[in-house]
Parts: sequence; structure tokens; C-alpha cells
Amino acid sequence: MDPFMGSGTTAIEAVRYANSVHGVEVDPYARLIASVATQKYSEDEIGKISFLVSEIGRAFEHQSLYDDLKPRLANIEYWFGDENFSDLLKLKSAIFELTDEGKVREFLLAAFGDIIRACSKAERQSLKPYISKKYEKKPKRVLDEFLRIASKYIDAVSESQKHKSDGIVWEGFDATNFDVSTSVDLAITSPPYINAMDYTRCIKLESAWIGTADDDAIKTVRNAQLGERVRRNREVREDFVYSISRQHLGELETIDEARFKTAVVFFDDMRRNMEAVFRALRPGGFYYIIIGNSRIRGVDVPTHQVIAEIAGQLGYKWDKYFLYRIRDHRTSIPRGDRGGKIEFEHALGLMKP
Ligand SMILES: C[S@@+](CC[C@H](N)C(=O)[O-])C[C@H]1O[C@@H](n2cnc3c(N)ncnc32)[C@H](O)[C@@H]1O
Repeated sequence: MDPFMGSGTTAIEAVRYANSVHGVEVDPYARLIASVATQKYSEDEIGKISFLVSEIGRAFEHQSLYDDLKPRLANIEYWFGDENFSDLLKLKSAIFELTDEGKVREFLLAAFGDIIRACSKAERQSLKPYISKKYEKKPKRVLDEFLRIASKYIDAVSESQKHKSDGIVWEGFDATNFDVSTSVDLAITSPPYINAMDYTRCIKLESAWIGTADDDAIKTVRNAQLGERVRRNREVREDFVYSISRQHLGELETIDEARFKTAVVFFDDMRRNMEAVFRALRPGGFYYIIIGNSRIRGVDVPTHQVIAEIAGQLGYKWDKYFLYRIRDHRTSIPRGDRGGKIEFEHALGLMKP
């Protein structure tokens, strides 16, 4: 189980070996990618998908546009040239015309979502959509890019019949409050960071196009993100989470009370998450949490330490602990001056006795 599933990195490995794979994730676009990447596709389904992809290519020029499929996000046109905007709508119209709700449509929508950034004017390098004024980017052509990505996806699922389990059993949307249908042996996750860059905004163009997001939906998902500043207004009991946080980052409370509060709420949310995972685990089961530290207003926040102490209070025992220096920062989330560069990742191996 991964209770912060994201786009499914852990699940993609897990479906090969585990009897069942469980997940919790609040972001609908991430859920779509994770589902498509872990489901089993039969030969028939793969054949049907391949046929539909070539059909889309063949009839693209004459495809009609459905206005009600346009993304409902303010200023979305800003991010695209006219031709690509219209071609994206054409492609989405074709997908909805040719498929019913279900696996095949999900597959095509995931591939569609994957081409959005490349076909937009937004930089590839920055995670958050951003249009450079200095260097003009040449957006990819919609149909070509779709055909390329779809064929990559088809290759990727061609072996999925061999997997031990079929897709993810979704156990809920909120990692701080869920119950599972069956007890699990192992949970592993990398939770969000305090004050991290806002994931929801990073994927807003994709979410808007695949139809899971308008301005309101994006706000709802953002407000659910652990570590988001907006959550600091949540009431937190003055209990051990508070005193452990204060012990490790008391200095921050004097420098910047609001950011201290954001951190406390983050740790309180992690407490709830660890409680939910504790309930989900069978006795003797493990919870591995991979997390980096943060620096907030010049104060080092030993996130792993605080989480470890909270886990101890909840009844977890140690299995293992290790850390490693992050060698490749290309895939890590840039956080400007907000969180500091993450140098180490810590793996906390907890066990439910
Ligand atoms: C660090 S990412 C996980 C990355 C994942 N390992 C992957 O490979 O994609 C954290 C994920 O937690 C999700 N998340 C944040 N707050 C959440 C909450 N309260 N409930 C459920 N999911 C949440 C975010 O949407 C994000 O996808």
C-alpha cells in the first residue's frame, strides 16, 4: 500500500509481486495515471486500443469539435497556440466519441494528458507551468505527439498480463483519514514535504484538459495537500505532536509563528496518516516512510526525527533506519527559497508489533 500514491511509482513495482496493491491519493489526475500504469490489459483490449489510436490518426482531419469538452480553467487559452488548442480539443472529442467510460478511455486519456505540456507554450524544465519570454519554445504537434506517446504506452502495458495483481484497490482520497478493505503487510510512501511546491498547480494544464479540474476542483485538491499553508488554520490539539514539534523547531516559533503552525499541522496530519496506516497493517507489518528534511526561515527542521518520535508514541517499533545523499537532483521538486535544497533522504522503517 502507498497512502500517498501520486502517479504510482511504488504501485508499478508492487503489482508485479504483491497479491493486492492498495492506494490512497487525493489528486484525480495522479489517480488516473497510477490506475492506467498498473491495470492488466488483455490482448483484446490492447488490440482495441491500437485500433482506436490508428483510427484517431486516420480521421483526425475531419473530426468534429465538442465545445462542452473544453477545459474549464480560467485563462487556459494563454498556454496554447490557436492551432494546438483546437487540435487538443479535436483529439479529446475523438477519444470521447470513440470510447465509453472505462479502461480503454482511461488509457487514451492518460496518453492525452501526457502530451499536454509538450504541446503547450510552457517550458519543459520548470515543474510549474511557465512561459519563458527569453526563449521561445516550439510546441510539439498534437497528433504526432499523441501517436508517439500512445504507442509507448501500448508497449508499456503489453506485458501487464504477467503481473500478479490487477491495478490498485483505491481505499480513499484522504491519506489522513481512511480505512482499508483488508489488512496489509507493507506500506511504503514518500509523503509530501512541508511547504513543498504546490503539486496541484504543477499539473493544472493536464488536469484541466483531461477534465478532472476546473478552478474550484483545483482549489479543493490543493487545500487537501499535506504541508499546504492554507491548512494551518486547522485546530490542532496541544498534545504530544505539539510538544515534539516544539522541542525540535521551537526556534521557528519565535521567528515566524505562522510557518511554525504550518509545520505543526503537517506533523499532526502525518500523525493521522500513521494512525490510519497502523489500523491497516497486520501485526508484524511494516510502514516505510521516505522523507527529506527542510529548512524553514533558516531553521533546520529534522522532519524524519519528528515523524519518528510521533510514530513511537503511536505504538510503532523500529525495523530499520537509513539515509542517503540525493545524488541526482533533476527529478526532485525545486522549492525556491521556501524549503531549502534537500540533501538527504531518510528512510524510516516502522513496524506494527
Ligand atoms: C511526494 S508525492 C508522492 C509521489 C509518488 N511516490 C510518485 O511517485 O508519484 C505526494 C502525493 O501525495 C498526495 N497528497 C497530498 N496530500 C494528500 C492527502 N491529504 N491525501 C491523499 N493524498 C495526498 C499528493 O497529491 C501527491 O500526489
